Amino acid sequence: MEMKQLQGKTALITGASRGIGYAIARQFAAAGADIVFTHLSSDEQGQTSAEALRAFGGKVSVYRSDAADFSAVEVLMQEVVREFGRLDVLVNNAGITRDNLLLRMDEQSWDAVIRVNLKSCFNTVKAATRVFLKQRSGVIINIASVVGIKGNAGQANYAASKAGIIGLTKSVALELGSRNIRSNAIAPGFIETAMTQDLAEASIQDWKQAIPLQRMGLPEDVAHCALFLASDTSSYITGQVIQVDGGVLT
Ligand code: NAI
Repeated sequence: MEMKQLQGKTALITGASRGIGYAIARQFAAAGADIVFTHLSSDEQGQTSAEALRAFGGKVSVYRSDAADFSAVEVLMQEVVREFGRLDVLVNNAGITRDNLLLRMDEQSWDAVIRVNLKSCFNTVKAATRVFLKQRSGVIINIASVVGIKGNAGQANYAASKAGIIGLTKSVALELGSRNIRSNAIAPGFIETAMTQDLAEASIQDWKQAIPLQRMGLPEDVAHCALFLASDTSSYITGQVIQVDGGVLT
């Protein structure tokens, strides 16, 4: 029988109580990984998602923990090592939006988005790298966005945070490639989750028209790419940004 792709591996995924993070956790759990995930939803939502992941048979731990809080992430990493004894894959997925046109954007909205989307990646990458160096291997997957490549009116803070993630991803790939640590980003297009469901119907229609594959993406579309990047199938791929966007940005 063929071994499952992530059998014996431990993955830490930020922001995985729902949406894209949860879909990634499901794919990884189905591929045999033990899962640690964080979130800032309700405890109940976190536990429900954790329970569903346990059905795949692996170990699952859930922490209600702010990925943007540097010391909280350090504590989290100690917990992961204590409980699982290892870490193989880090997925930085936690993210928020605070959309507004630049002229109306307040300082709090700017700071909050940069903090949660970008600084969180610095926190987790730094903490995980210590473990990866000891193990002499590791995989980092950062969830960016096509908006971080092309920009988007009304999302200057979000686009800047996602462009920042791409810069971080590539720098880490350059710094740590010689240590057998791979670092890649996924840039999703327009994916059906809570984050996009509040958009005006007209705006959704505009988006859809611009997508060559003529549909919005599903969280699973992103998760399949994450599984590929997490597994040894992608062992010669680092420093890349892979668009999962139905062709919307070519
Ligand atoms: P979502 O809002 O459905 O889920 C976000 C998750 O992050 C939740 O589990 C939430 O509890 C958690 N979270 C929020 N702030 C956190 C923090 N400070 N610390 C820890 N966890 C935190 O969002 P969705 O749509 O699943 O997005 C996931 C990622 O994908 C985000 O980084 C987002 O920017 C990115 N993305 C989403 C796209 C879309 O169309 N939905 C397109 C491109 C990128």
